[in-house]
Amino acid sequence: MQAPIFVANWKMHHGPRAAREFVAQFVKLYPDRIERTVILCPSAVSIEAVASSLRYRPEIGTGAQNIWTEPKGAFTGECSAAMARDAGAAYTLVGHSERRHLFSETDEQTALKCTRAFEAGLLPILCVGETLAQRESGTTEAVVIRQLRAGLAALTPDQVRQVPIAYEPVWAIGTGKTATPGDAAAVHAVIRLALVELAGKEAARSAILYGGSVNEGNAASLLAAPGVSGLLVGGASLDPAVWARICQA
Ligand code: PGA
Repeated sequence: MQAPIFVANWKMHHGPRAAREFVAQFVKLYPDRIERTVILCPSAVSIEAVASSLRYRPEIGTGAQNIWTEPKGAFTGECSAAMARDAGAAYTLVGHSERRHLFSETDEQTALKCTRAFEAGLLPILCVGETLAQRESGTTEAVVIRQLRAGLAALTPDQVRQVPIAYEPVWAIGTGKTATPGDAAAVHAVIRLALVELAGKEAARSAILYGGSVNEGNAASLLAAPGVSGLLVGGASLDPAVWARICQA
């Protein structure tokens, strides 16, 4: 089995100074040589601070929360994949539900962002997930599979097999409502099947993370659910002590 993956999504928290302080505390609390992959995704302005503070802990990765669809140009306020890479990121989230719902990010844009990420040497982490209305109307699988296929559409099968997928039900993000381990396992199984259809049977080993109101109390049981290979954590990743405990769940 692959080492479980723990991704912290700090959203719009922790500027460079707070990010450095976080890393200084976290590395004291989180032992190295542990069989886990930990990735911190700060705001773009803090990528360099996080990556440089982690230079003595190269096993802990840094990721962007978002990149733009074009490699460069007149896109005021945006950050390209190559710029994130240059600042020290090795990963980027793509298609987070806040990007999709608050910033109208489309499926086509998620596909372009995945392509740009690979071009720049970043590994995209593609986020998918249904809203409460979609879940209640019975379209969870259709929505998740549409987002998955669209986001991965321009990648080669070999690239598809490398992309960690994060299943984050929108109704569980920042709400305190967590999917049960059973809910997560059911959707993860559907995603895994779709990945195998897209990229062959080796894609059965792809990493599929769960995200949405993960905390210290539920991390271990979600991680133990069948097919859950890691966790994507927002609010509970902001405190270094809490995050260090979640990463050892
Ligand atoms: P949350 O956020 O853990 O605060 O629910 C998760 C996410 O948005 O990635």
